[in-house]
Amino acid sequence: MAILVTGGAGYIGSHTVVEFLSKGEEVVVLDNLQKGHRDAVRAGKFYEGDIRDARLLDQVFSEQNIEAVIHFAADSLVGESVQDPLKYYDNNVVTAQRLLAGMVKYGVKSIVFSSTAATYGEPESIPIQEQDRKEPTNPYGETKLAIETMLKWCDQAYGVKYVALRYFNAAGAHSDGQIGEDHRPESHLIPIILQVALGQRERLAVFGDDYPTPDGTCVRDYIHVTDLANAHWLALQKLRRTGESAVYNLGNGEGFSVRQVVEKAREVTGHPIPLEIVPRRAGDPAVLIASSEKAQRELAWKPQFNSLGQIIQTAWNWQRNHPKGYAK
Ligand code: UFG
Repeated sequence: MAILVTGGAGYIGSHTVVEFLSKGEEVVVLDNLQKGHRDAVRAGKFYEGDIRDARLLDQVFSEQNIEAVIHFAADSLVGESVQDPLKYYDNNVVTAQRLLAGMVKYGVKSIVFSSTAATYGEPESIPIQEQDRKEPTNPYGETKLAIETMLKWCDQAYGVKYVALRYFNAAGAHSDGQIGEDHRPESHLIPIILQVALGQRERLAVFGDDYPTPDGTCVRDYIHVTDLANAHWLALQKLRRTGESAVYNLGNGEGFSVRQVVEKAREVTGHPIPLEIVPRRAGDPAVLIASSEKAQRELAWKPQFNSLGQIIQTAWNWQRNHPKGYAK
């Protein structure tokens, strides 16, 4: 039987496809290539199109013998979600509803869902635990939380079992250097810093240095994309083994400020990486650090890339060798 990976041509999705293939799983990718890259999917069966295309979804479920779904396909830009919330309700919530309806129709009972630290909003305490208060401060986090809730009710009503994985800051690239991060336009910290190192930008704009943190810049928990990918496979094993739904945070449990990330990138790249302090970006919490104890305990998840230097090094290997990302 095959595993359907929606959004498998995206950043985290493509790394997960590679991870699943390395475990001997049969993988089918469905991606509309709105944000994803065809070249990021190097093996497995590929369907190009949208989950909301009912005919295509029927075709995928009827042509393939799908055991479980790993659902990445979504929009994930916090700022854009504030500007255009309906786009996020459509692309994220409506899409998940259609996917779940398809799963129910074709008797597919397991799903691993790509959720986010943005479901918590401003944290009530650090490190953040799964049961902590969830009050998203933007529509992106709100739509992901709505999908988690939809999953809970679908479990109760139709017996669809799920694992929701709340990622903190995904970073890095596959260690073989063949796939990595390529968002257009790029908005994430580490790729932007590396674009400065490559001379593609003059400097990094640091969004605020007056946060209540040791150096005034925001603190985040950076977790390697291959470690995230591996957690999806472990989540599927847990569903296979126990058939129980669950939610897990995924992070390294260590926070780094924007300035610390820049300092580490200077060491890795040997480039001075000039900075400019600009006003805060709306909706950025000061500190986000995960407690991933539950995932470590229940999934036996153990991040392999637990130093920021290692994570940045893999991103640098990818970006230096693919300065235009997937563009030819
Ligand atoms: N930052 C800058 N300058 C930049 C880009 C980012 O100073 O040019 C700062 C941000 O203000 C933030 C940190 O670097 O403090 C990390 O920013 P990213 O945009 O790389 O990541 P976020 O923490 O904003 O977002 C990530 C995921 C989102 C998810 C969010 C959860 O990318 O999908 O975590 O809070 F919603």
